[in-house]
Amino acid sequence: MQHAPLRIFSSPVPAALQLAVVVPTLNERENVARLLELLALALADIEWEAVFVDDGSSDGTPEYLTEVSRRDRRVRLIRRVGRRGLSSAVMEGMLASTAPVVAVIDADLQHDERVLPALYRAIADGEADLAVGTRYADGGSTGTWSARRRAISRLATRLAVSIAGTRLSDPMSGFFAIDRDCLLRAAPRVSGVGYKLLLDIAASSPTPLRIAERPYTFRTRDAGTSKLDSAIVLQYFELLAEKSIGRCIPIRFIKFALVGLIGVAVHLGLLSLALDIASLSFRASQMIAVLGAICFNFWLNNQFTYRDRRLRGLRMASGLVSFALVCSLGALANVGIGVMLFREHSAWWLAGLAGAAVGSVWNYTMGNLLTWRR
Ligand code: GDD
Ligand code: MN
Repeated sequence: MQHAPLRIFSSPVPAALQLAVVVPTLNERENVARLLELLALALADIEWEAVFVDDGSSDGTPEYLTEVSRRDRRVRLIRRVGRRGLSSAVMEGMLASTAPVVAVIDADLQHDERVLPALYRAIADGEADLAVGTRYADGGSTGTWSARRRAISRLATRLAVSIAGTRLSDPMSGFFAIDRDCLLRAAPRVSGVGYKLLLDIAASSPTPLRIAERPYTFRTRDAGTSKLDSAIVLQYFELLAEKSIGRCIPIRFIKFALVGLIGVAVHLGLLSLALDIASLSFRASQMIAVLGAICFNFWLNNQFTYRDRRLRGLRMASGLVSFALVCSLGALANVGIGVMLFREHSAWWLAGLAGAAVGSVWNYTMGNLLTWRR
């Protein structure tokens, strides 16, 4: 639908915005000034804005960008407080712009900004919904990567292709542009976990996206350091899980159930220790084992299942109390359902299993609502 031009500007009306370039930053002070220069050069023929999304850099990045954005209306800054995460930062930046085409580029100059106009054109000219800078097509390369890093990246790419079913040659790329309407359609299902937003968006789109790829060579980082660590690798597997089995069962429940299974082993271990080594009565040993297992489950759920809502300090103590209460009621439900089914002549293992299933769903639901509530 065509709207009449707004009359809020005194003439002349500025040219309409064409492209937003979202730049996630975490301690990139030494890179952002150069990046802005390079963007201005590369995008001379396009009406663009840069949306920086900073997650609490401590090296002066947001202060510097604040300065620049006051003088240059093409530069905008979103500062997030108390939050971390590349994908969610980029998603927020993308949704904060009204530009018809939205692109992402790393702040550390590793992506080739000279490819941005080609990514933009592919979408603006209607060739594609999603245009991706790829290192794995003719003319593209991973630059000076070690054989080990290349192998890891290849493996992660293969996993993505087989698990999330993407047709991208470089699903791990953090360098792409997308049509705003397509982004908005995918947005409600984007999980925003970890580092790999492209994969997340491609797998979340309700209709298959038309994809264009443009080769580029991954540059080496000159200033600052990479933020990739083992937690981020774990988040990658989580994203893949979410985009495959996560469509049927919440990944958090699977993690919770996994912790529960390990908890059973802890319970049995403690029980046998108390019986054999401390020679306590069965009643006392079983009580110790239950308490130990509850504490263990609470700790591991807090570290792993609810890492994003982790309780610390005093809140950990009250969390443990509420979790213990939840588990006690869960155990009652577990026993109740089991006994009921057993009386109705179910096989003992079926009755036991059904009780355990109801107990775990209860524990999970109530843990979500009470112990680790948002
Ligand atoms: N706001 C925000 N929050 N920015 C972040 C965060 C975060 O938690 N973590 C990293 N960044 C920013 C960095 O400042 C940088 O601009 C960019 O995201 C990429 O981070 P690097 O730490 O340099 O990542 P990398 O080089 O190991 O991996 C990247 O390269 C791949 C290859 O293209 C990632 O950007 C991938 O997305 C990309 O595909
Ligand atoms: Mn980098």
